[in-house]
Amino acid sequence: MNVLIYDTEEQIGIAAGNYMCGQVLAKSNSVLGLATGSTPLKPYNHMIQLYQQGAVDFSQVTTFNLDEYCKLDVKDENSYHSFMHKNLFDHINIPEENIHFLNGNAEDLETECAAYEERIKAAGGIDIQLLGIGSNGHIAFNEPSDSFQRWSHVVALKESTIQDNSRFFKSINEVPTHAVTMGIGSIMQAKRILIIALGENKAKAIKQLIDGHVTPACPASVLQFHTDVTLMLDKAAASLL
Ligand code: GLP
Repeated sequence: MNVLIYDTEEQIGIAAGNYMCGQVLAKSNSVLGLATGSTPLKPYNHMIQLYQQGAVDFSQVTTFNLDEYCKLDVKDENSYHSFMHKNLFDHINIPEENIHFLNGNAEDLETECAAYEERIKAAGGIDIQLLGIGSNGHIAFNEPSDSFQRWSHVVALKESTIQDNSRFFKSINEVPTHAVTMGIGSIMQAKRILIIALGENKAKAIKQLIDGHVTPACPASVLQFHTDVTLMLDKAAASLL
């Protein structure tokens, strides 16, 4: 794995934003796998800046987001749909029809998940997948468990994830208990992976990802089996390496 350690979140924002835009410069109709959470905020901001400076064009890009909460209106400020529009899509020239999300409000979530996999396949697969990591080692919403879930699926969120994500909601009781997420197989099929981690509360998961056994108890550890993974870490996230 290509492990890059930075002094500041600002530097990671620039490096990661450049990395994602570099993919688009090399292939104008790239398929980007995108993530939510606070970690990608600065990278998205840098991607917007590069677009505003005329350095990159997103008009032929297609995106697939990793995950979405269940039973949360897409218009709710905490939906990942709202997050992505507010923090990236509304500021770049990606056509709305090229943007894809799992629908956490679909009547039949299993059919929705299967259709999402088909949409990724039809787009030619994901060229680069941006990932954050949960403090418990989750990627997307693939929570620690005793087996890897291969494709997109519905998941019951762990208490620790609900706790972590409650900072975005008015109260912890408002955090959805379920989500739809791309599976480990969907993520592993991406041609390249960029994973970013900031802060001390990610250090243990990052240590396990890089040095631990590959186990569904730390879903991110499976990335050891991918051939093109770049990690961008701040010093706190890298502190146990
Ligand atoms: C959520 C998302 C993940 C994300 C994680 C970390 O659970 N489903 O995709 O990586 O949070 O979030 P943050 O970047 O806010 O620490």
